[in-house]
Amino acid sequence: MTKLITPATKLYCIFGKPVSHSMSPLIHNMLFNKFSIDALYLAFQVNDIKQGVDAIKNLGIKGASITIPFKESILEHLDEIDETAREIGAVNTVINKDGYLWGFNTDCAGAVEPLKEALSENSLKGKNISIIGAGGAARAVAFGAKKEGGNITIVNRSKEKGEVLAIEVNGKYLSLSEFNKQASINSINNNLEHTDIIINTTSVGMTPNIDESPVNPSILNKKMTVMDIVYNPLETKLLKDADDAGCKIVDGLSMFIHQGAAQFELFTGIKPPRQIMRESVLKNMAKKHQ
Ligand code: ATR
Repeated sequence: MTKLITPATKLYCIFGKPVSHSMSPLIHNMLFNKFSIDALYLAFQVNDIKQGVDAIKNLGIKGASITIPFKESILEHLDEIDETAREIGAVNTVINKDGYLWGFNTDCAGAVEPLKEALSENSLKGKNISIIGAGGAARAVAFGAKKEGGNITIVNRSKEKGEVLAIEVNGKYLSLSEFNKQASINSINNNLEHTDIIINTTSVGMTPNIDESPVNPSILNKKMTVMDIVYNPLETKLLKDADDAGCKIVDGLSMFIHQGAAQFELFTGIKPPRQIMRESVLKNMAKKHQ
């Protein structure tokens, strides 16, 4: 059935560059329909996020998702920034409250919540968490995990970037090559410090490089929980290796769904059922591969 668009229909959108691959329009429009909300969500590619912010104000757009490469550069154009978003230095959600623009970050909770759900204790407190990567995604994950009481190690290819983030979250820095070596020593000598949780925030393993993994499989053991934020493919080489080693695994779609659910709640005040969001994304992914 065709949706009826009227002058009263509220507009929500995503700004990014590129945005053609985004699955956010799919989940938000599906949820608007499910809850009979008279709203529409569209994807806009912009060259400069200032143009996007002006559009939100001038067109009365009610809310927006912000994606790569604008999550950091948008901050200076907003009227208010939520505390978590300010701490991370990145905004992925904008709410238009009567012309006054508020910035939020739902990536942070999006990463932490599925991880907590995977752990029997339901908590990250005191866990040794190795985060691979030190870019924008790593920042959101690291701040979220730190807030939940985790001990953070930033594992990165380049030292400078890794050390900066490690200092910001009161964590340690380890080079990726050392991590892959050191952890194999750990599996021989259990007295050395261990890793409870590994989270990949880099694009290693993403289509088309599906045979790559940032982690040496020999370091994985069944006490670990391994999360990948890559969701294309859903089962990355890292997650396959982790599954083979008996680890608990959390796939990248979980983070995407959680951040989207938190965003929809900011947009509408409604906590959406995550299972139907996941099913709808999986159905869409399957269709694309037919
Ligand atoms: P995003 O904002 O999406 O996190 P980014 O800021 O480009 O993206 O950060 C990408 C991260 O993935 C970086 O930490 C990068 O490592 P460097 O700091 O050494 O560049 C890491 N990364 C990307 N490709 C990688 C690869 N092939 N091997 C190891 N690390 C990689």
